Amino acid sequence: MTVASEKLRRTARLYAGGVTVVTVVAPDGAHGMTASSFAVVSLDPPLILVSLEETSRTRSLILERERFAVNILRETQESIAKSFSVSGRKEFDTIPHRLDEDGAPLLTDALAHLSCKTTEVIEAGDHDLFVAEVIATEAFEGSPLLYFDRGYHRLK
Ligand SMILES: Cc1cc2nc3c(=O)[nH]c(=O)nc-3n(C[C@H](O)[C@H](O)[C@H](O)COP(=O)(O)O)c2cc1C
Repeated sequence: MTVASEKLRRTARLYAGGVTVVTVVAPDGAHGMTASSFAVVSLDPPLILVSLEETSRTRSLILERERFAVNILRETQESIAKSFSVSGRKEFDTIPHRLDEDGAPLLTDALAHLSCKTTEVIEAGDHDLFVAEVIATEAFEGSPLLYFDRGYHRLK
């Protein structure tokens, strides 16, 4: 017997975590999505993972491109998290950013960012796990944006 997805969803809501925006180059400009599935897998070699839903455009673009960036959002970036969790074309013009070596946007005000190269894609149910090598990373001072029980929160 399997657990119904809605029941698992209710349980998953209780797991508090940070919020990232995963970005990638697209033929029509940059693209990205809000993702809380980010995890550091290994320090040596430096590996991270993100779990992306099979229906997401970001997933398809990363499958082709194999390069992407992860931006860890700071507490003031709730509006960015909200706009990047809506499917469709994402607007980078109003968000200060620069492009990494592969053209993936690094958000200027993010708490940290990582430029990544996919090393393995693992199909896992309705998501794909992207394991990736960290090519470059920068971390800055500040506090993270948190997501818990369908809402955005701050540490204090
Ligand atoms: C806080 C938060 C975290 C999310 N984390 C993930 C995630 O880790 N993986 C995922 O596939 N979708 C996640 N989503 C949903 C995507 O952001 C959403 O499906 C998005 O519209 C996909 O955009 P795209 O189709 O343009 O790539 C999250 C949404 C929110 C609000």
